[in-house]
Amino acid sequence: MSSSADREDLRETLEDIRSEALEAIQEAEDAASLDEVRIRFLGRNGRLARALSGLRNVPPERRPETGKTANLVKQTLETTLELKVDELAALVEPEERPATDLTLPGRPRWKGGVHPVTRVIDEICEIFKELGFTRAAGPEVETDWHNFTSLNIPLDHPAADMHDTFYLDEGVLLRTHTSPVQARVMMEHEPPVRILAPGMVYRRDPYDASHAPAFEQVEGLAVDEGIDFIEFRAAIDYFVHRFFGPETRTRFRPSYFPFTEPSAEVDVSCIICGGSGCAACKRTGWVEIMGSGMVNPAVFEAVGYDPERYTGYAFGMGPARIAMLRYRIPDSRLLYEADAGFLEQFA
Ligand code: DAH
Repeated sequence: MSSSADREDLRETLEDIRSEALEAIQEAEDAASLDEVRIRFLGRNGRLARALSGLRNVPPERRPETGKTANLVKQTLETTLELKVDELAALVEPEERPATDLTLPGRPRWKGGVHPVTRVIDEICEIFKELGFTRAAGPEVETDWHNFTSLNIPLDHPAADMHDTFYLDEGVLLRTHTSPVQARVMMEHEPPVRILAPGMVYRRDPYDASHAPAFEQVEGLAVDEGIDFIEFRAAIDYFVHRFFGPETRTRFRPSYFPFTEPSAEVDVSCIICGGSGCAACKRTGWVEIMGSGMVNPAVFEAVGYDPERYTGYAFGMGPARIAMLRYRIPDSRLLYEADAGFLEQFA
């Protein structure tokens, strides 16, 4: 055998070593005989080492290639040996195995958490629950009657244009806001009604730092005998103080929505600068958090409530915007991209 190491070309010898060693590994019946195979072939004075000592007799131009082959053989044998070690270990009865050290701490893995927008929605719902509101839900695939007509938005009205959306079929669309849940709840239940309806809405909007074609809204509706603007303001103030903190001020700005009259945009004093003016509030000291108003009697008529007997208020907010304010998230896309590294901070 050793005479073969003198041969000019070692490749054949290496091939012999490879096949003989693989066979020996395969035949090994326990760890001790496997160890013996390892020493015989891969040991310091083993077959492979001895064969390689003949490398200097190989003509220089063939040496790199032969060296490469030798390395490959070595790696193959080492890997096969390792696999065989595992294979033999698995055959040993559990009680004969050496005790496993279980004290090594595992690598921590993030198991997931509540998304910041969901967290905001849940908090909003919890606060309004204290005022007697329950959760309601409606379908994301809506009829244009619920989405527009019942809410006093004629289909040819500019307010409907602002809600340009995805039509699925004649008269069927992806809802552009959660307000149609108002109509659904009122058609199902007699007053008093106090509901919050969180959910996904869809619009033909761009996907950029402050827009998304699909986003969450939370709708609120309260209807009863004798609800007036003062109760409405008190409810919103209560919510703002509970959610943003007792020092936060509220401002009602006149606005227009077809389904409320009067309508107001609700601003809160900027929770980042406290109202003195910063980039987040565009130096105004105020940030808008919702659209709202007293329910328009036309909506009561559409759903079959007596507008002479009942009054109410409604509001709609975007929890993603609120989450961005609260957690100082500069770009809304961060909320939609399911990047665990980013979301983990809020869990
Ligand atoms: N639905 C409106 C929107 O998506 C938001 C809104 C405004 C809801 C006023 C309301 C409301 O209930 O009273 O732009």
